[in-house]
Amino acid sequence: MTVIFKRSSSVLLCLFYLCLEPPSFVKKPEPLDVLSGANITFTSIIRGSPPLEVKWFRGSVELVPGPRCNITLQDSVAELELFDVHPLESGDYTCQVSNEAGKISCTTHLFCSITTTDTSAILEIPGSKLEDQGQYSCHIENDSGKDACHGTITILGASKPPYFVTPLEPVQVTVGDSASLQCQVAGTPEMIVSWYKGDTKLRGTATVKMHFRNQIATLVFSQVDSSDSGEYICKVENSVGEASSSSLLTVQGEYFNFKHREMRKKKKQTSLPTTICRGLFTTSSK
Ligand SMILES: *[C@@H]1O[C@H](CO)[C@@H](O)[C@H](O)[C@H]1NC(C)=O
Ligand SMILES: *[C@@H]1O[C@H](CO)[C@@H](O)[C@H](O)[C@H]1NC(C)=O
Ligand SMILES: *[C@@H]1O[C@H](CO)[C@@H](O)[C@H](O)[C@H]1NC(C)=O
Repeated sequence: MTVIFKRSSSVLLCLFYLCLEPPSFVKKPEPLDVLSGANITFTSIIRGSPPLEVKWFRGSVELVPGPRCNITLQDSVAELELFDVHPLESGDYTCQVSNEAGKISCTTHLFCSITTTDTSAILEIPGSKLEDQGQYSCHIENDSGKDACHGTITILGASKPPYFVTPLEPVQVTVGDSASLQCQVAGTPEMIVSWYKGDTKLRGTATVKMHFRNQIATLVFSQVDSSDSGEYICKVENSVGEASSSSLLTVQGEYFNFKHREMRKKKKQTSLPTTICRGLFTTSSK
């Protein structure tokens, strides 16, 4: 009984939703490029089963009607009106339409950048980014002719070359031990880290691994050999520069290693509970 009931209810639910038309755009709002102080209207023509709900967003912020913003939906025409737009209002605008059968959205762009007075035209770039850097030209014309002028925008301090917050430090280990060289870097991403031993660029192997996470670059040896001794260099590059830090890894020989290990073994064994010791011995004798 339960199964039949569930089935028939889901069929009914399906039928209910099949009858509903999800929202869609007949006409999407066009991007606008305007002078500051203008009044603008983004217009969407939408369809779908009523009731339709329309929301507008600038970036991810929902817009609410007010003295400088009017939101309307009449028949199938959804409009967003903005009065006296300012260059700071430039950005992506999203129209979101939903009904019981679904939700759809569409993003357009408002570019409001130029302020004009009687004798000047001002281009404002709010929140300038590195991509805004480059050549710009201003073209002006009236019925008697036209003219143009050019300029270059250079974004200062947009990108920082890499530098070391904590440089590499010398490390001393014994043959057979694990070892790691570590440094902390800062600078504008993407940063690429490479490691060198002398002039030779290192590649990751089963025993040597390189990590770069949270601005910390690490070179890890799972087991050092006396041939691993030497000068290591960490080189960091990004699009605007590079930096490097170097340090010595000293691997002490077998004799030290032997004594050192024996001592550590003794220390470990004495501190282990006897039951575990016995367990270890049985396993290793197999
Ligand atoms: C913008 O709209 C407001 C209110 O409707 C009006 O007073 C103003 O003159 C309009 N501005 C422009 C530049 O059309
Ligand atoms: C908002 O738009 C509606 C419909 O176009 C209009 O009747 C109303 O006057 C507008 N409000 C403002 C503040 O302009
Ligand atoms: C075009 O601009 C120039 C410089 O301001 C002015 O002398 C000229 O009269 C203008 N021509 C027209 C047709 O407005």
